[in-house]
Amino acid sequence: MIFAAILAGGIGSRMGGTDTPKQFLTLGDRPVIVHTIEKFVINNKIDKIIVLTPKNFINHTNHLIKDYIGENDNIVVIEGGKTRNDTLINSINYIEENFGIDDSSIIITHDSVRPFVTHRIIEDNIDAAQKYGACDTVVPATDTIVESVDGETISNIPVRSYYYQGQTPQSFNINKLNSLMCSLTEDEINILTDACKIFTLKGEDVYLVDGEVTNIKITYPYDLKLANTILEDNHD
Ligand code: CTP
Repeated sequence: MIFAAILAGGIGSRMGGTDTPKQFLTLGDRPVIVHTIEKFVINNKIDKIIVLTPKNFINHTNHLIKDYIGENDNIVVIEGGKTRNDTLINSINYIEENFGIDDSSIIITHDSVRPFVTHRIIEDNIDAAQKYGACDTVVPATDTIVESVDGETISNIPVRSYYYQGQTPQSFNINKLNSLMCSLTEDEINILTDACKIFTLKGEDVYLVDGEVTNIKITYPYDLKLANTILEDNHD
């Protein structure tokens, strides 16, 4: 089976100025999270969409889905975790408990605050996860990357063409992801901020899927302004 996990368990602290997590703020005529879920609903290869939110937003999210998308048995809303990684683990536990996992089970994990993911990106993720077991959506770095270990002087300027900016989705063969997660040491768990890093830590390949510059993550208030501009542009 093919699962999508929409990671919406964060509180959006960098957005500031509101108690409403950024995934529930309005973009155009609907909440950000609705735009994001819609992109997965229209893909008929996806068997189940798991939306993970803070506990006190589960009801709200169910109402939003009912109001904007309509009753849909393929969507379920469950509680996210303390960190983004915990939210991802909650989605895998839910899949294991409710559907079981076999060698063909795939999960497409996506930030709820990237509402402009395209059909092509999702399709490429499904293909790459099925073929290679793990993939990350990226765009080539456009700015020169400058490394500074002490935050005061440059320690290195790497070759730009080797560098990409990570977006989402990140997609995985669930069995493979699970077995790698089980093999992590305590130290490794502590440095894990990214599921693809689990694969690279263990020497496993993660295939690159082409992202889009418009597949932005809404992090700061300016990003929401930018998102409104992208939305208007998409409607032209
Ligand atoms: N996320 C999640 N569970 C968490 C933390 C984050 O599912 N415990 C999700 C967010 O809801 C978001 C995505 O991961 O869709 C990307 O994370 P980020 O932009 O860092 O979101 P927040 O953690 O909400 O933002 P901030 O770091 O500003 O608090």
